[in-house]
Amino acid sequence: MSSPASARLDRFRRARRDRDLAVIEGFHALKHALRFDAEILEAICAEPQQLQELASELAPDLGGRLMALAHPVEPELFAQLAPRAARTGVIALAKRTHPSFSAVLTDHADAPIVLLEQPRDLSNVGACVRVAAAAEAAAVIVTGRHDPWHADAIRGAAGLHYALPVLWCQEVPASDRALVALDPAGEEIGLREIPPRAVLAFGSERRGLSQELLAQATHRVRIPMRAGVSSLNLATSVAAVLFALRLAATDRGREPSR
Ligand SMILES: C[S@@+](CC[C@H](N)C(=O)[O-])C[C@H]1O[C@@H](n2cnc3c(N)ncnc32)[C@H](O)[C@@H]1O
Repeated sequence: MSSPASARLDRFRRARRDRDLAVIEGFHALKHALRFDAEILEAICAEPQQLQELASELAPDLGGRLMALAHPVEPELFAQLAPRAARTGVIALAKRTHPSFSAVLTDHADAPIVLLEQPRDLSNVGACVRVAAAAEAAAVIVTGRHDPWHADAIRGAAGLHYALPVLWCQEVPASDRALVALDPAGEEIGLREIPPRAVLAFGSERRGLSQELLAQATHRVRIPMRAGVSSLNLATSVAAVLFALRLAATDRGREPSR
């Protein structure tokens, strides 16, 4: 018969391969997951005193929810629950969300969708999810072989996968949205020329966007950079575009109506 400790280790190990589950490592990721209504199945902490202090200082809005959820275990067991144990001493299992592509693509709100074509670096994917959530993008869609719900991506996103739809596919279904390719070799155009509800496509860290995607794009746009600089980092370019659009929309909202 397995002990409770080995059963717990086994659940965390299996969860890393389960497409319905998410492993949430660290205080900030768990804090955001709770704020955005993740269904937490199990939470484990190594140092209840430290968790209590973090919760009181950084997440008073969660009241006692974090402490009520977190089950204390010995530090030796905690260290085995993740390849790199979270310094903040907490880890959790939660259900993933499975939003529908058609609901996301047909949504009529003005917010853009971020499409990441075959990204290679999971921390970059996480950083893109984090900034997309902050800028209130409609969704993040990821193609390629890297699961955007991998624990490293969730850690990079500080748990903000629960704040907006994050979808994984190999081919993005067609929709009525404009497809805007973000490409260092694109044209410099005004923000007003980027239509609302666009799918903003960003390429992989090494190769950029594929020829197939560039051929389908309705616009090919460049973020202006100083001469001699080849490109921005993937997550930095997502942040630049989303916040430029968001600030432009805020400015338009402030313009006096004529
Ligand atoms: C690190 S860059 C890829 C660099 C790649 N060698 C290339 O030339 O596209 C990753 C992605 O960030 C986006 N990006 C980076 N700098 C950009 C810029 N100045 N203008 C538009 N998109 C940019 C693009 O979508 C690009 O595919």
